[in-house]
Amino acid sequence: MKTINKIADLQSEITQAKAAGKKVGFVPTMGALHAGHLHLVEQCKAENDICVVSIFVNPTQFNNPEDLVKYPRTPETDCELLQSVGCDIVFMPEVAEMYPETDTRVFDFGVLDRVMEGKMRPGHFNGVAQVVSKLFDMVTPDVAYFGEKDFQQVAIIREMVRQLNSPVQIIQVPIVREESGLALSSRNMRLTPQQKEDAVAISRALFASRDLIDEQSVSETAKAVVMAINEVPALETEYFEIVDGDTMQPVSSWDESEYIVGCITVYCGEVRLIDNIIYKNKQ
Ligand code: PAJ
Repeated sequence: MKTINKIADLQSEITQAKAAGKKVGFVPTMGALHAGHLHLVEQCKAENDICVVSIFVNPTQFNNPEDLVKYPRTPETDCELLQSVGCDIVFMPEVAEMYPETDTRVFDFGVLDRVMEGKMRPGHFNGVAQVVSKLFDMVTPDVAYFGEKDFQQVAIIREMVRQLNSPVQIIQVPIVREESGLALSSRNMRLTPQQKEDAVAISRALFASRDLIDEQSVSETAKAVVMAINEVPALETEYFEIVDGDTMQPVSSWDESEYIVGCITVYCGEVRLIDNIIYKNKQ
C-alpha cells in the first residue's frame, strides 16, 4: 500500500495505473475507520484493479467548529486497517494541499439540500460537494463508493455528478451495524459504554417500525419511532422524516413512492447519531 500526501504524486500513480488499463475504484473517508468503512473498501477492492482511499477531515463541511476539533483522528491505525483489507493507495493530504485558497464554489442542490441534514447543518452538503468534486478530479476514479448510512449524502453526490457531467459511477453500499444493531460510526467512539447501550434503542425502533407499515399510516409510524426512542432518557430525537429515497421529500402515504426511507438523527448526550431504514426499495 502506498501512502501519498501530495496531489502530484497521487496523479502520477493514477496516470500509470490507467495507462496500464487498470480500473480505479475510490472510497472517500474522513478517517477514524471502522468496519463500515472497511466494508466499502473491500467492495471497492473486489470490483476494481486499484483501490484508492482518501482520509481527509474536510473543514468546509463542518458547520460547527467544535465538531471539527473533536472529530477523531487515528491515522496510524487507519493505515494498518487499510493495508489489512488490500487498499492500494491511501491519500492523506493536508488542508493546505486540498484548499490552497478558499473554495468559494456554491452548489445548488435545490430541494435535496433543504431537508434533514441540509436543513439542520446549513452549508454541510456544499462542503461535502466541494471536497468530493476536488477528490474526483484528483483521483479520476471509474467508480466511487458511498455508504447508505449517510443516505442524503448519496443523493447529493448523485446530483453533483449529474450536474458536473462527471463520468464517475456511484455505488451505494448498505449500512454496516454492530451486532446490537447500532449503525457503525466514527462518532460511536465518543459514547460511554452506557450510552452505547442506550443508543441501541435507535435501530431497534427503526427495525420494529418496518412491521407497522401494513397497518399504520406514515405519520403514525413516525410518531411510534420517535416515542420509542425518546422514552430512553439519554436519547433525544432531532428529526425523523419518512421520505422518498430519490427526492428526499417527505411522503404522506406508503403508496406515494416505490422507494421510501425513514431518516433519523438522535442526540445521545452531546453525540449526534444518524441512522435510517428502508421501508420500500426499488426494483
Ligand atoms: P465518513 O463519515 O468518514 O464516511 C466515509 C464513507 O463511509 C461514507 O460514504 C459513509 O456513508 C460510509 N460509512 C460510514 N459509516 C458506515 C456504516 N456504518 N455502514 C456503511 N457505510 C458507512 O461521509 C464522509 O466521511 C464525508 O462526508 C466524505 C464523503 C468523505 C466527504 O468528506
